[in-house]
Order: sequence, then structure tokens, then C-alpha cells
Amino acid sequence: MPTTRDETHFGYETVPLAEKQGRVDTVFHSVARRYDLMNDLMSGGLHRAWKDALVTAVNPPTKGHPGRLDQKSGRGFALLDLAGGTGDIAFRTVAAGGGNTRVVVCDINEEMLAVGRQRAEQRGLDHAVTFEQGNAEELPYPDRSFDCVTIAFGIRNVPRIERALAEAYRVLKIGGRFLCLEFSAVDVPGLEKIYELYSFQVIPRVGQAVTGDREAYQYLVESIRKFPKPQAFARMIEAAGFRRVSFTQMTGGVVAMHSGWKL
Ligand SMILES: C[S@@+](CC[C@H](N)C(=O)[O-])C[C@H]1O[C@@H](n2cnc3c(N)ncnc32)[C@H](O)[C@@H]1O
Repeated sequence: MPTTRDETHFGYETVPLAEKQGRVDTVFHSVARRYDLMNDLMSGGLHRAWKDALVTAVNPPTKGHPGRLDQKSGRGFALLDLAGGTGDIAFRTVAAGGGNTRVVVCDINEEMLAVGRQRAEQRGLDHAVTFEQGNAEELPYPDRSFDCVTIAFGIRNVPRIERALAEAYRVLKIGGRFLCLEFSAVDVPGLEKIYELYSFQVIPRVGQAVTGDREAYQYLVESIRKFPKPQAFARMIEAAGFRRVSFTQMTGGVVAMHSGWKL
């Protein structure tokens, strides 16, 4: 954990809290155009299954034509996808839900959002998904405005995690659900060693070959090791006010899906 309240981690480095966001922004600025390709290469496509599991938990109502906003039926299902980057969670949610599903992708990085907007246009989903720049620590949305808030592989990058959790809680409607996908701690004997080897020997090299930025992927593997263990992160979610907090580990603990309700 950080040594003082004004310090945090950027991978294995201890940095001033005020410095981390800028460093994170540089990482995603650098990899944005190759981000989706790298996800497939690094995870062997597994990130798709993890994201599908998240969207199954989001469980958007299926009433109405998929991906088309039903103007007549009034209130829709509103999802806020924090640190939503290039839109994977948003597109899956719209595909799973009915015409009353709308998704706001909020991300701090304009380059990631630009890729997302382009993908939305290509898919004909730009009417159902909007991409907005914002900081998860200080959301530009009123209290109680979303039915569900998700964050996939994003919370690890946010300097003040407690603030982001408090903001997710604030913008959720009563009865709304918070869902978070994040890399976790591998807990299967045997897999642990292979995972360490793969993480530190293979991923930065693939990152270098595909994006030209080895450091970005070195940060990725280090930041995963620095992120709180799932039990500790579950306690942080509880401390933000969420109830019925739980988590499920997937793929031997490579990833965990956390859930909490605003009740
Ligand atoms: C690993 S990507 C995840 C993107 C997407 N959720 C996915 O699963 O493919 C992490 C994202 O977090 C965003 N991010 C980092 N710090 C943020 C912050 N303080 N507020 C909002 N987004 C942030 C980055 O810009 C980046 O797009």
C-alpha cells in the first residue's frame, strides 16, 4: 500500500498522488489505437468472455428493439460505464438490452473515446451510446441518475479509488447496482508460475511489438500486482456505502467481478 496519504503507486513505482493520473493518461494516449487488438492478443480472446459475464450481471431489460431507443415508452435503462474506453461494455449492453437501453461511456482520455465513437458509428449504435470525457473521481452527473454503474479494468488506474467508489454510489439510483471487473490474484497452484512468467516475459514484449510501447504494458502487469486483493477491495466497496457486496473470481483468479447494491 502507499507509504503516505499523498503517495500512490504507478506500477511498482511510488509516485505523488497528483502525478499518477498524468502518467496513466500518457499510457492510454499511447496505446489507444491498438488497445482493442492488444486485449485480444494478450488474453487470447478471454477478455470477451469476462466482459460478457459482466453484461450478464448488468442484465439490461430486453423490452424494445435492440439498440434502438424507444421514444414512446418513457424511462429507459441507463448504464454508466466508467473508464469505458473504446466502448466494449457499452456495445455489449446495448446488444443484450432492448430499445430502452442507453449507455454513457465516461472516460478521462479523449483518444480512447475517439476510438469508441468511431466504433459506435461503424456499428450504427451512436444513438444508444454516448462517449463523454470525465474523471471517475469527480463525475459530471447529478445524484441518482443511473440504474447501473460498471467499470471494467479501469479502477486500478484511478489514483483515488475511494473517491471513484463514492462517486459511483452517488450517481446510482436507489436499488441500482455497481459492477466492477478487475484483474485479481491467481490462486490456482501451478497456474501462478505460468501466469507470472507470461505476465512479465511475454506481455511487455507483445506490447512493444504491437504498440511500440513496452512501458505501457510493463505498467499493466505491475499495476495488477499492486491492486488490492479481492477481499480488501470488497471492503472498500462496502466502505463506500454499497450493500450485499460480493465478488466472483474467474479463470483461476486472473479476474474478479465485484458487485454492490445501493439500497
Ligand atoms: C484498461 S482501460 C479499460 C477500458 C474498457 N473499460 C475496457 O474494458 O476495455 C482503462 C481506462 O481507464 C481510463 N481511466 C483512467 N483513469 C481514469 C479516471 N480517473 N477517470 C475515468 N477514466 C479513467 C483510461 O483512460 C482507460 O480508457
